[in-house]
Amino acid sequence: MLFTPPLSQITTIEDLRQIARRKLPKMFYEYADTGSWTQTTYHANAADFAPIQFRQRVLVDMENRSLKTQMLGQEVKMPLAIAPTGLTGMFHADGEILAARACEKFGIPYTLSTMSICSIEDVAENTTAPFWFQLYVMRDREFMADLIRRAKAAQCSALVLTADLQIVGQRHRDIKNGLTVPPRPTLANLINLATKIEWGLKMLNTRRRTFRNIAGHAKDVTNLSELMPWVAKQFDPKLSWDDIAHIKDLWGGKLIIKGILDPEDAEKAVQHGADAIIVSNHGGRQLDGAPSSIRALPAIIQAVGSQTEVWLDGGIRTGQDILKAWALGARGTFIGRPYLYGLAAYGEAGVTRALEILYNEMDLSMAFTGHRDIQNVTREILVKGSYPE
Ligand code: FNR
Repeated sequence: MLFTPPLSQITTIEDLRQIARRKLPKMFYEYADTGSWTQTTYHANAADFAPIQFRQRVLVDMENRSLKTQMLGQEVKMPLAIAPTGLTGMFHADGEILAARACEKFGIPYTLSTMSICSIEDVAENTTAPFWFQLYVMRDREFMADLIRRAKAAQCSALVLTADLQIVGQRHRDIKNGLTVPPRPTLANLINLATKIEWGLKMLNTRRRTFRNIAGHAKDVTNLSELMPWVAKQFDPKLSWDDIAHIKDLWGGKLIIKGILDPEDAEKAVQHGADAIIVSNHGGRQLDGAPSSIRALPAIIQAVGSQTEVWLDGGIRTGQDILKAWALGARGTFIGRPYLYGLAAYGEAGVTRALEILYNEMDLSMAFTGHRDIQNVTREILVKGSYPE
């Protein structure tokens, strides 16, 4: 069986990624660690943080630091939340519950995907802090309304409407791997699975192995190979700005629009009453060739930064990345893959470790720029000319 180093040896998100790659069945690892088509946008998301430079400041008091802030009025330990990810329960048995618990204990929001393995009710029953629910809009509006009703009944505290997946970008690895549950018994899959005994045993010990949110509706989805055709049939390609008012009415609470990459769309989101927007290209999984999130951020801040909360996801792999995004105006950030790596590698403790790593990196880096309180950090901490404008 795989030797897993003690958590004390895990010092980077990259450490978690490497263990996740060894532990997970190939098709699930590659489902996460991939982007659409040429993966240009996927790689740019992380790479575009690198050229941004900090101004190092010395001989200032660096004791008693705080990264505390608020996201939609909710106090958070740092400007970070967990992004919605589908199939999380296949990265570790009961993955959504474990990730939500890790967030609750750490003090940041957790977002549950429509395409989760554990249902809204599973997560609500096994956690105490309110979580956020991410909505994909379906052609069957009664089913969509039902999801919203369930999220309300579970006392979810915000609805995250994903606006960039009415149609699905192609990821070559998923097609080549024949993403299925249970994995297809090809020779390659059998050889691969024989090395994933630990994962398999954990999966056998949970009754949550299907899409429990959509289970009542998607009776024809019995395994993942039927999922993408189901998504193509069910997700509504006609979704438009005209639908937002109705969704807002049904929900009646705080609405976050996720997947904004253009200042004109940011303005529309504000006009349609978004309480916050997430600058995002879906982790490079949709429009390949679109700009990285960090490149798209400054123009969006300029357009709507004073009117709504602007957050960002995509490519965050270090606490320095979060600090750069904050300095450029993002009042919150989200991680997808980094927490999935932690979850696959060590379960709940791995998610916590991912959050601790990001916290420590951000905290110390802020201090090196001469600040003790994130609220005082502006783009002044960045070297002029090194960041996108
Ligand atoms: C996602 N993402 C996503 N977004 C969403 O709104 N609903 C979903 O169900 C999913 N599912 C999903 C699965 C996997 C495996 C990944 C990697 C991503 C996108 C996600 O919320 C977020 O935008 C990106 O993951 C952010 O990029 P990083 O942090 O993964 O680089």
